[in-house]
Amino acid sequence: MALTAHRGEILHFLDDPGIAGQEAVVHFPDGLLLVEDGLVADAGPFDVLGGTLPPDADILHHRDALLVPGLVDTHIHYPQCDVIAAYGTRLLDWLETHTFPAERQFEDIAHAESTASFFLEELLRNGTTTALVFGTVHPQSVSAFFTAARERNLRMICGKVLMDRNAPAYLRDTPSTGYRDSKSLIESWHGVDRLGYAVTPRFAPTSSPEQLDMAGRLLAEHPGVHLHTHLAESAEECRWVSELFPDAAGYLDVYERHGLLGRRSVFAHGIHLDDGEWRRLAETGSGIAHCPLSNLFIGSGLFDYRTARENRVHTGLGTDVGGGDSFSLLRVINEAYKVQQLQDCNLSPFESLYLATLGGARMLDLHPHIGNFEPGKEADFIVLDYRATPLIDRRIRGSASLMERLFVLQMLGDDRAVRETRILGETTHGRGQTL
Ligand code: GUN
Ligand code: ZN
Repeated sequence: MALTAHRGEILHFLDDPGIAGQEAVVHFPDGLLLVEDGLVADAGPFDVLGGTLPPDADILHHRDALLVPGLVDTHIHYPQCDVIAAYGTRLLDWLETHTFPAERQFEDIAHAESTASFFLEELLRNGTTTALVFGTVHPQSVSAFFTAARERNLRMICGKVLMDRNAPAYLRDTPSTGYRDSKSLIESWHGVDRLGYAVTPRFAPTSSPEQLDMAGRLLAEHPGVHLHTHLAESAEECRWVSELFPDAAGYLDVYERHGLLGRRSVFAHGIHLDDGEWRRLAETGSGIAHCPLSNLFIGSGLFDYRTARENRVHTGLGTDVGGGDSFSLLRVINEAYKVQQLQDCNLSPFESLYLATLGGARMLDLHPHIGNFEPGKEADFIVLDYRATPLIDRRIRGSASLMERLFVLQMLGDDRAVRETRILGETTHGRGQTL
């Protein structure tokens, strides 16, 4: 395959700028991103790299735009497309009233296939190129998802929900069918192209101790698969967990006793945690997916990012569709900023873009493949549009620095700001001219 050259303003990260400082930020005001065979060949200033190109090389010039790595959504439910923006409930009754009936429809493979396609197109329109995704309890929901992701050459992680109690009979499995179906999905899909499997108990209240044991066994038997679940999202849920598991030292301990913590374990939310739990998350290399859209929409609480960072707990951002009311990680960054403002923690635009790119990739342990523009990484990237809307255009023209421009895109942007999404260098979503 030929070399493709993308000229434009480029931004990516080599490390966490909240810890490593400006050294972590790589910015080329007039840069060149070279892509060969779907991988990043190089990224640098145009006036340096331009001279190395063959004279007949095609250069795509992305004007009035910022090229950044594809966004990573570290917690989202594809079967919940149809309950997004559902009125009037908090977590536990939201699940009963809206979510479980919607998930029931995934018994029907045709519904799963059409929803998976819709969902992935929606991610791409929003600039999300990798996600950690919940299926439903039905194994066919996950095969439909992986089939659709593979057709689009995407790097995606998904898993079948494990849920054997405290849910309607039509959505329950058992420890043994959950084990059998998960194992079979792992054998069919894990490591195929850019797909990965996550063992996915919904959350502690909907799995018996036997099923959580079985989840731990699946992890131990299949090194490399992820663990994906919810943790300490709402106060009511936390009280319920302490009643259901009276012997556990806390919510996280329920998962730890069953061998579910580790470098590839991702817990969504983590709002109500104590010091010991933060420490165990850090010591085990586990990650938290921070989902402010959902935390505000469902009214669950405010995530304590300062403590996550002080403890060096891997953190990523998630939309948590359908608890979250948008597919856009720019909207997530907007709400993350406000949630931290309420707690006197200032989230810089560099820090939040890091979380949505390399930070998310690191949390998922996918940083050898994605997350920034280091040579050899997969060339999943997006083109953010400085002229996306009249207001963005106006504010960008009045912005003196990269930091200001980035913040304007984050606070005022959404899917409209994503001019182009490229997967392995190829355009999969494009809404503007790149000439
Ligand atoms: N806790 C258990 N299941 C869910 C879910 O589907 N969404 C959210 N936000 N929290 C959960
Ligand atoms: Zn969720």
